[in-house]
Amino acid sequence: MSESMAGLKRSHYCADINENLLDQEVTIMGWVQHRRDHGGLVFIDLRDRTGLVQTVFNPQEDPATHEKSHDLRAEYVLALRGRVRRRPQDMVNPKLLTGQVEVFIRELRVLNEALTPPFVVDDHADVTENVRLRYRYLDLRRPQVLKNFTLRHQVAKLTRDYFSDNGFLEVETPVLTKSTPEGARDYLVPSRLSHGSFFALPQSPQLFKQLLMMGGLDRYCQIVKCFRDEDLRADRQPEFTQVDLEMSFVNQDDVIGILEGYISLVFRSILNLNPPLPFPRLTYDESLARYGTDRPDIRYGLEMVDVGEVLASSKAQVFVEAIKSGGVVRAIRAPGAASKLSRKQLDDLVALAISLGAKGLAWLRLTNEGFQGPLAKFLSETEKEALIKVMEAQVGDVLFFGADLSEMVAHVLGQIRSKLASELELLPTGQSLDNFKLLWVTDFPMFEYNSDFRRWEAKHHPFTAPREQDIEFLKSDPGKVKALAYDLVLNGNEIGGGSIRIHTPHVQNLVFEALGLEKEQIRDKFGFFIDALAYGTPPHGGCAFGLDRLVMLLAGAGSLRDVIAFPKTQKASCPLTEAPGPVGDRQLLELGLRLEESKPPDSL
Ligand code: AMO
Ligand code: AMP
Repeated sequence: MSESMAGLKRSHYCADINENLLDQEVTIMGWVQHRRDHGGLVFIDLRDRTGLVQTVFNPQEDPATHEKSHDLRAEYVLALRGRVRRRPQDMVNPKLLTGQVEVFIRELRVLNEALTPPFVVDDHADVTENVRLRYRYLDLRRPQVLKNFTLRHQVAKLTRDYFSDNGFLEVETPVLTKSTPEGARDYLVPSRLSHGSFFALPQSPQLFKQLLMMGGLDRYCQIVKCFRDEDLRADRQPEFTQVDLEMSFVNQDDVIGILEGYISLVFRSILNLNPPLPFPRLTYDESLARYGTDRPDIRYGLEMVDVGEVLASSKAQVFVEAIKSGGVVRAIRAPGAASKLSRKQLDDLVALAISLGAKGLAWLRLTNEGFQGPLAKFLSETEKEALIKVMEAQVGDVLFFGADLSEMVAHVLGQIRSKLASELELLPTGQSLDNFKLLWVTDFPMFEYNSDFRRWEAKHHPFTAPREQDIEFLKSDPGKVKALAYDLVLNGNEIGGGSIRIHTPHVQNLVFEALGLEKEQIRDKFGFFIDALAYGTPPHGGCAFGLDRLVMLLAGAGSLRDVIAFPKTQKASCPLTEAPGPVGDRQLLELGLRLEESKPPDSL
């Protein structure tokens, strides 16, 4: 049975019902969260986008409506008219925004019934992610989930306003396009009119935004979907949204300045926090040496310190051998960890290091009697004293050592560092500035060596400009070339990345050559772009933010799936629509496609 809304108009959202409305009549509409029958009185918690309010059906006041309330079930859609009253003192619920009041109902209309939902729609429901996504429309009704989308909307609006106020034009770029080089696999779309040809969905609008600068747009910004067929993690979706921007006649500091203005506006408006400006900057090399990663979480210390010099001539073979074979020895000081970490926790850290590829993880505890630990006996008094000095160690601290090639030490100690932060409970909680640490990482290497394929690959993308002073090494020593590229990092997450671009065909060709691309390959992949570069390209640069990641961190959510309305699962599929799915023979025929029995990719 369903009744009409006719003659009733919603006067308030549920969460707006408060003491200011005492004795007034209100009309609210929403879903049944919960029904309780207390002998005489029936209580219905009604939910809408804003939250919950308690309503009361009293047999003495309105027997007919009270009678009708018996049939109500979870998720029925109701229109309710009634009067706001103060709750009796012992019924006040301080946890609820509307907890001081309740609405005594005079009129109830059941606008729609609902099947029994597969899970209770509340923030504590214990449901697998697959079921939540299969019934995403029910999951979305949860106030916490809805809150994230309100926040996302606010960020999107702020973004458009900020960039518009700063002279940026929003321009849409194509979705059916050619492969764009961001390093992931493409999603392909077969062409019906040109059998055997495929569009690629854009991994980013990189080439188009550069073409817009060549087109004289001067400043462009777009909130745009990007598609990357890559292995998924909590912070990666195959289809995600960038705040993408590009500017002409600018240098790196100009771009960074505009972006800092944007991010600080977002923090001010959404969290009422003012991150200090300018944001700190670290070069890539420094970041790796101190934190073991190019996206360090600087909410806590635990920095890596080079102790190679101190230990180079010690009797501890693990250190000496590492240095002799061209490696490094670095250490992390965990303050006060001696009493906080059990022996089992120490053993687990060693096991973690080994699972990451280390040969071990030496540690030393500083006690009143001096150092204790597997290697203590191999260190002389002078070495121990020097170690205390460089590490600024105090009694009660534990030092952890990595000795290997510098990349391995960075990889291992970087992970040990974040594990230690959680074991020692160093991560701040709540919405304070301590819990939101932003920094720029700059001076990235231009190329990365892929030893499997024995070739240099672009670390950012091949349109990133090398530093002026490094251009001469593009041919002779690509590993030495640093790029005018920058990433913005928030609490250990890369939330944005960009660069100054190459704007002359000459340098662009040198970079393609360094990447080992043949002339024909270049023509085939980027011919249109190379042509355009030669027609008067202004110096330009830009950046892209991961909007989903930014919103996830602002919302304190644990996964991108909490801030994307219809996200994909780990297997890049959608349990709600069951996409991707098979298509009929006719459609395949039209596209000129025939399916072969699938083979594992390795055998192709
Ligand atoms: P980049 O590849 O670094 O740069 O991407 C920019 C930002 O997008 C976010 N991001 C993702 N978010 C969710 N799921 C994914 N799979 C995913 N991949 C990336 C990250 C990242 O910082 N065209 C360049 C930008 C430029 O040079 O201007 C680009 O796309 O937060
Ligand atoms: P071993 O000589 O292999 O018995 O190791 C002695 C100690 O050094 C143990 O605590 C190991 O975990 C540690 N260790 C071994 N190799 C390394 C390494 N490459 N880096 C740091 N610690 C190591």
